[in-house]
Amino acid sequence: MENAFYITTPIYYVNAKPHLGHAYSTMVADSLVRLHQLMGETAFFVTGSDEHGDKIVQAAAKNQQPPQEFVDGISQCFQDLWPKLGIQNYRFARTTSPTHQKLVQDLLQKVYDAGDIYFGEFSGHYCYGCERFYTDKELENGLCPQHLTKPELITERNYFFKMSKYLPWIKEYITEHHDFIRPERYRSEALGMLEAGALDDLCISRPKSRLTWGIELPFDRNYVCYVWFDALLTYISALGGPEAQDFQRYWPGEHLVAKDILKPHAVFWPAMLKSMGLPLYKHLNVHGYWLVRDTKMSKSLGNIVDPLAMKEQFGNDAFRYYLFREMHFGSDASFNQEAMIKRINADLANDLGNLFSRVLAMNAKYFAATVPSPNAKLPQDTQIIDLGLSALDNFVQLFRHIKFAEALEALWQFVRALNKYVDSEAPWELYKQKELERLSTVMYVLLACMRKVAICLWPVMPHASCTLLQQLGQTASTNTPPVPDIRAEISCFGGLQAGIQIAKQSNLFPRIEVAKKEPREAKVAKDTKEAKDTKDTKDTKDTKEATLPNIDIETFKTADLRVGTIIEASKHPNADKILVLQIDFGPLGQKQILSGLANYYAPDALVGRQVCAILNLKPRKIRGLMSNGMVLTAESNNKVCLLMPEKPSSNGAHIA
Ligand code: MSP
Repeated sequence: MENAFYITTPIYYVNAKPHLGHAYSTMVADSLVRLHQLMGETAFFVTGSDEHGDKIVQAAAKNQQPPQEFVDGISQCFQDLWPKLGIQNYRFARTTSPTHQKLVQDLLQKVYDAGDIYFGEFSGHYCYGCERFYTDKELENGLCPQHLTKPELITERNYFFKMSKYLPWIKEYITEHHDFIRPERYRSEALGMLEAGALDDLCISRPKSRLTWGIELPFDRNYVCYVWFDALLTYISALGGPEAQDFQRYWPGEHLVAKDILKPHAVFWPAMLKSMGLPLYKHLNVHGYWLVRDTKMSKSLGNIVDPLAMKEQFGNDAFRYYLFREMHFGSDASFNQEAMIKRINADLANDLGNLFSRVLAMNAKYFAATVPSPNAKLPQDTQIIDLGLSALDNFVQLFRHIKFAEALEALWQFVRALNKYVDSEAPWELYKQKELERLSTVMYVLLACMRKVAICLWPVMPHASCTLLQQLGQTASTNTPPVPDIRAEISCFGGLQAGIQIAKQSNLFPRIEVAKKEPREAKVAKDTKEAKDTKDTKDTKDTKEATLPNIDIETFKTADLRVGTIIEASKHPNADKILVLQIDFGPLGQKQILSGLANYYAPDALVGRQVCAILNLKPRKIRGLMSNGMVLTAESNNKVCLLMPEKPSSNGAHIA
């Protein structure tokens, strides 16, 4: 049977729209699938949306939508995004799909029949953010370690999965299988969790009196299934269940997650699989967080990076390249546009782009853009060829073992060596001296090596790889791997047919020019001069801006201007720039006002602040949400700031 590769991303919650973190995990799955296809394997991945549970119900309620309508909308955002980011070869699974729900019920029944589920009373600290109970030992200073909030003490009768029965076995398995959880630091962390003895049986039900949005337990209609027990089973339901052909073919597969969900994957899931009598997954691949200014991206902090905006600004391939090159898999990485521009300019424009543009231009001039036939090789040719073959080998091995940054670095050492080879062999001199035999060999070595580099790029930059291969006269598509098995490319030189026509030029990665920051003194001097030079015009402009018709005091008084305190702030679910504010106006009550502040304030930073607002503006619906007034702001230098009373004032106080 042919080799089959199967990997999963987390099944993302649909309480918020997709961001860079989701995009990264999904791009990694896409590129690993591509690499395995490039090795001649049948490969695909599963991603999807996790649609049950408290969190979703709360988000739907906040948006004034029934849960199903709400999850349909956000799940669609995820489904629409992936093709736009060049992501392919996946199945999109939804936990609300009838096939998934049926499979969850079948497997729950199986575990129940095997005697691994029991009914019992339980008191525990429940964190609504995590949707799970915490034991005393797991809490940090009485707070949920993830959300740093105080969990609620709940006593309930519930169903429990006998996880503790499997814990010694899991611990032994992880201890003996060194790369079961990788990189190593997460294996140690998982062992630490098991070591601490903090884990017990897993509560796998929620009474319908508290939550109805879930999959009903097949053995008790008064309960729904705990969202994690439901979601993890997607990895199997997406293959059609344990009896399906795809399951026989693809299971056990690989999982890919970030460190936030290590525990369910390292502990709950192996115990569930063991109880169901199913083989364990091959590896759990755990990556770190993308941080923005040293903080994890989060909706409430308002520092979310939108992957589509990055694609539009920098191009999808360059964006993907930066992510793979910048994050050392397992560690956190900082997302930073300046660093991205530097990386694109250095690696893509200077190293790779320059290599293609100079070699193709020279070949057009010397050989009318046809591939010359090579002649006898000199030691420096053999040296660069050997370096290339071992770079390719390193690239494939490192990439397979999720060391993406290191794999790209190995490939780039070769790209940089090729540029040096151009410099040292100086084809222009050979042309000038009419040493055409030698020139043919040098140009052939370069072009054949460039073809191999372009093939390696296919998993990371599918479009760029295709364009470069097409420039080298190869047929290539983003859907089908450019060669049947990349390992054949590693074992021997060549692969480029002499005599074929190739492109005359290449300009795939132009440099990104950024406006240079001026040194401070120079800037001050310039600003002063400019201020002086423009004083007259500015004066005129100010006067011009002030030419709204005069109004009398009575007209001014028709505006109901008041002071209020922001008691809640969140991002508008359908408009990136807008914050939804709940403001307390004292005797006038609480009002919802929408304001275009999302680019300037983190929502949490606004809670508790006093603001000035006009309340008798006609209420207006903005992207589905009502705004009952407007907060007053000042705009200068393209930045917006809030107007606030200079001293604390009572809510509802008149502004005059
Ligand atoms: N629904 C669960 C997963 C169930 S899997 C059976 C869940 N969903 S989630 O929407 O919160 O997604 C978490 C995952 O999104 C992380 O594990 C990671 O793959 C990705 N990321 C979200 N934020 C991230 C960063 N800031 N950085 C990198 N990836 C992160 O947990």
